[in-house]
Amino acid sequence: MEKVFKIYVYEEGEVPIFHEGPCRGIYSSEGRFIHEMEKGKFYRTKDPHKALVYFLPFSVVTMVQYIYMPETFDRNGMKLAVVDYINLISHKHPFWNRSHGADHFMLSCHDWGPFTTSFVPDLFHNSIRVMCNANTSEGFNSSKDASLPEINLKTSEMSGIGGQPPSKRSTLAFYAGGLHGHIRYLLLNEWKGKDQDVLVYDKLPQGMSYENMFKSSKFCLCPSGYEVASPRVVEAIYAECVPVLISDGYVPPFSDVLNWNSFSVQVPVKNISDIKTILTAISSRQYLRMQRRVKQVQRHFLVNGPPKRYDVFHMIVHSVWLRRLNIRIQDIFT
Ligand SMILES: *[C@@H]1O[C@H](CO)[C@@H](O)[C@H](O)[C@H]1NC(C)=O
Ligand SMILES: *[C@@H]1O[C@H](CO)[C@@H](O)[C@H](O)[C@H]1NC(C)=O
Ligand SMILES: *[C@@H]1O[C@H](CO)[C@@H](O)[C@H](O)[C@H]1NC(C)=O
Ligand SMILES: *[C@@H]1O[C@H](CO)[C@@H](O)[C@H](O)[C@H]1NC(C)=O
Repeated sequence: MEKVFKIYVYEEGEVPIFHEGPCRGIYSSEGRFIHEMEKGKFYRTKDPHKALVYFLPFSVVTMVQYIYMPETFDRNGMKLAVVDYINLISHKHPFWNRSHGADHFMLSCHDWGPFTTSFVPDLFHNSIRVMCNANTSEGFNSSKDASLPEINLKTSEMSGIGGQPPSKRSTLAFYAGGLHGHIRYLLLNEWKGKDQDVLVYDKLPQGMSYENMFKSSKFCLCPSGYEVASPRVVEAIYAECVPVLISDGYVPPFSDVLNWNSFSVQVPVKNISDIKTILTAISSRQYLRMQRRVKQVQRHFLVNGPPKRYDVFHMIVHSVWLRRLNIRIQDIFT
């Protein structure tokens, strides 16, 4: 892949909505990827005829910031921006029409990523959409779309890598976080203040450190919030805590190549009340294996500047590559 995969980045469109995005905060995976593609040190070709895929470098996060009027629920401006943009590139270049968008990809970590693509049917149904909000109930199709990890970069560097060895992880399961969405509500309602082993808080008690709890718990609970992805999944992997994904219809990142069942626990929403039963049923031998694998997969979620082999940037490109392999342009063309 590193040798033959060539990506063309469309040059149309102006900053800030095109060609850049947020590099910090919960949407940083969107901005960091756009920046790396723009820098062009890896995979990028300036010759569109040599490209295997075409990147649409718009940022849904900046679109929401600059075009959407808060609380109006009027997203017509965003619709116009996306429709105009696809119109522009499909008139100016032959590539979009040739495949009806199938060898094109967009990437977004915003909750509205799926929604933003819905204004152009070919973009929604044919293009490769790389999104944090990988919710199968919102049209995420894992055979053509790819799940993007949500990574909360507080500064431009990663932090919190590493944690206690399994023998020093004294808490069975930990969660602290606000009441965002119905799954969090169910979790807090069921577990907050109810159990000594499953520690669930909406407000972290005085003197307790969120980061240290991740580093010293066996399992870290990662319920979906307003959308399916949660930055806790990667926080848990960084802290070498086995993540417990509590969601429905969520396709976790890189599942083509990573076997999530071997290093995480996936709990359907209907089984929130069974969390303790499910976790205590995991033997200590099995736990040790899972925790060791969390450490093994950690490098695939690391954010490096510049990117390093097998880190999150290359993994994202690999997800796109795997999906591109399924597309035969001639088939679509004829
Ligand atoms: C692509 O298709 C559209 C709609 O059919 C058409 O208007 C446009 O001119 C085509 N683009 C090219 C480059 O031929
Ligand atoms: C998912 O994508 C594949 C490949 O493009 C397509 O064949 C399939 O019909 C899609 N599934 C759904 C439910 O849209
Ligand atoms: C997934 O999408 C469905 C349909 O829009 C929605 O009802 C559900 O709440 C979403 N899941 C999460 C966790 O946001
Ligand atoms: C999950 O919930 C279903 C339905 O409530 C129940 O039948 C099943 O036993 C639960 N699974 C576990 C692992 O507890």
